[in-house]
Amino acid sequence: MTASAVTHLVQPGAAATAEAARILAAGGLVAFPTETVYGLGADATNGTAVARIYEAKGRPAFNPLISHVTDLGAARALARFDADAARLAGAFWPGPLTLVLPKAESCPVSELATAGLDTIAVRMPHHPAAQALLAAFGRPVVAPSANRSGHVSPTTAAHVAADLSGRVDLIIDGGAAPVGVESTIIACLDEVSLLRPGGVPREEIERVLGRPLAETAAGIAVEDTPLAPGMLASHYAPRTRMRLNARSVEAGEALLAFGPAPVQDAQKAVKILNLSARGDLIEAAANLFSYLRALDAAKADVIAVMPLPPDGLGEAINDRLQRAAAPR
Ligand code: TXA
Ligand code: MG
Repeated sequence: MTASAVTHLVQPGAAATAEAARILAAGGLVAFPTETVYGLGADATNGTAVARIYEAKGRPAFNPLISHVTDLGAARALARFDADAARLAGAFWPGPLTLVLPKAESCPVSELATAGLDTIAVRMPHHPAAQALLAAFGRPVVAPSANRSGHVSPTTAAHVAADLSGRVDLIIDGGAAPVGVESTIIACLDEVSLLRPGGVPREEIERVLGRPLAETAAGIAVEDTPLAPGMLASHYAPRTRMRLNARSVEAGEALLAFGPAPVQDAQKAVKILNLSARGDLIEAAANLFSYLRALDAAKADVIAVMPLPPDGLGEAINDRLQRAAAPR
């Protein structure tokens, strides 16, 4: 399913919830209210649906997304909770708190949604329309704020429509978002740190923890803020050296291909994966991180990468490839 040219705006309720869950299951996009801001939701386990989010937002880069869940059991299927994380979830969920945690072993969320990281951002919203949708859908829903890249986060359905009409299949109009700022993001990794101030004040979090939060960890992507080169370490990058815009393959190289055209000397490749044989950038985005991992595991001398067009999702794919290829 592609986003329809005309976006339907519906009032929350059983019919809207059922239609929204149907659209999500078919790989479509649904904008829905949360207590913080409106989210642009997709099935977190469907890489193609996740790719459509980046396309709809016009994001020039793949920032990791928050997975929204309906209860603690669903959260634990995605992420590993230590004692601090469990305490924070117990105190603030459902509510405007996002936890960045180590990914669970069998986490079903697409690699694109976590931008290839070993960590995952998880949140349990308390807005009734969001809860109803998550419960009806039964799988995690990734949802960035439902605005075009570079615009402010939407707190009404009209804001969403102004930015995304025709790019999203359905908007659930739940009125004004009560909190009006995004969720607070806390990482519970080696230390507990504040990654983004938001709906839950720092002081309340520190009171529950019983100690001050560490300073913001380096290397965290804040939406639409390009990462400084020194911050690349926290992003997934293959160990194998990469060669971009490859038009031929050298002996000992692995090949990340794109499109139907054969590349010269392809038979020399130790392994070939094609991001999209039909040249579809949405399919390519969905495959990007898992293919990079798979080629990295092939232990080639170099991963040669065929050129990808710069338009549409190509901008974000090329951005990611350039970061992965940057000298370290
Ligand atoms: O209130 C909110 O959190 C809203 C509603 C819709 O839930 N969502 C939201 O999503 O603000 P978004 O995509 O606009 O912002 C998510 C932020 C981004 O800055 C992203 O870099 C960060 O979360 N993030 C996601 N996963 C991360 C991870 N594994 N490590 C570090 N940062 C992460
Ligand atoms: Mg945002």
